[in-house]
Amino acid sequence: MAPLRIASIPGDGIGPEVVSATIQVLQQLSKTLGTFEIDFTHVPWGTDYYKKNGRYIPDDALTTLRQFDAVLFGAVGAPDVPDHVSLWGLLLAIRGPLQLYANVRPVRTFPGTKSPLDTAKKGIDWMLVRENSEGEYSGQGGRSHVGQQWEAATEVAMFTRVGIERIIRFAFETAQSRPKKQLTVVTKSNSMRNGMVLWDEIAASVAKEFPDVTWDKMLVDAMTVRMVMKPQSLDTIVGTNLHMDILSDLAAALAGSIGIAPSSNLDPTRKNPSMFEPVHGSAFDITGKGIANPVGTFWSAAEMLSWLGEKDASNKLLVCIEEVCAAGFVTADLGGSCNTQQVVDAVCAEIQKLGT
Ligand code: NAD
Ligand code: IPM
Ligand code: MN
Repeated sequence: MAPLRIASIPGDGIGPEVVSATIQVLQQLSKTLGTFEIDFTHVPWGTDYYKKNGRYIPDDALTTLRQFDAVLFGAVGAPDVPDHVSLWGLLLAIRGPLQLYANVRPVRTFPGTKSPLDTAKKGIDWMLVRENSEGEYSGQGGRSHVGQQWEAATEVAMFTRVGIERIIRFAFETAQSRPKKQLTVVTKSNSMRNGMVLWDEIAASVAKEFPDVTWDKMLVDAMTVRMVMKPQSLDTIVGTNLHMDILSDLAAALAGSIGIAPSSNLDPTRKNPSMFEPVHGSAFDITGKGIANPVGTFWSAAEMLSWLGEKDASNKLLVCIEEVCAAGFVTADLGGSCNTQQVVDAVCAEIQKLGT
């Protein structure tokens, strides 16, 4: 059996803590199930690497990553380096160039997670689809007259027909694969009269290919209200890179904690390895304390297994995570008192039960 070859980039802050936790869990899963093998190669890119080498990734970084089946990523960002330098140096230097254009962020409440929503509204089950290669993250724009009174800065949100069509089609397909067959397209086409209007037009046109999917449009501001007030009226949601960045943090909080939220950066054409990472960042405030919630990275790893064809192992891992959360083995962000290693141990013990 050929092992799954995974590049692990732990990165900064709590990244190494949650990635190491996840490697332990995946190795236990592989050992207990015996249905797949998995091989991790540590890739040391991050702020320490930057401080030694003056850059976050080497010239041949993309060639290196292309040798793997997938990438497991922790987080990047450090208190003593400007965020735009670290993020454009590492994470965004992978997502865009590898054309990982579909960022999929499932959001679900499960037993053991405490939602700030009241119990009647609590049952969230959403699939957020984020455009991951263009829009506000296209890197276009600049500054002129730096430091002068008439300094100006632009941040250009660039959208292309190809880029919009492929993510809208991906979102309709995602919606079609789910029981509710329902998609909400998020834009801001009342005030943004070019790119956002193109999104609306393309959504209406692609929708014709999916007569079995019910779809609607929401302005992003109104969407925040709907997510809080009528969470059960939503299922699959698609939007731009920036809109879905913001909505996915809100969604994670509504489901209980940013610490459990997973994300998949997919190249649906499968020409490049896809990258899996928790939604959260480096979390400077808890780094080194051993209390980071590893569940967002576990869940991302489950998505990775599924993407690589190991659906049974993926489902089993998800069930074990849910069991452990339901039994109260959760970190402080979910109201519990476990540290990271105790959650790892509880999930590994749950996995071991699969083998008995
Ligand atoms: P953050 O997600 O790092 O932290 C926000 C809050 O959530 C903090 O209070 C943190 O303690 C808590 N939190 C996050 N993950 C947690 C976990 N697993 N368990 C328990 N609590 C958790 O967001 P931020 O503070 O805005 O960003 C910190 C740094 O991380 C910045 O440099 C930012 O640019 C970077 N960042 C990186 C990524 C990434 O690498 N994918 C994502 C977001 C932010
Ligand atoms: C995320 C993060 C990143 C983003 C940052 C750190 C560049 O917030 O993955 O949600 O904005 O995409
Ligand atoms: Mn974010």
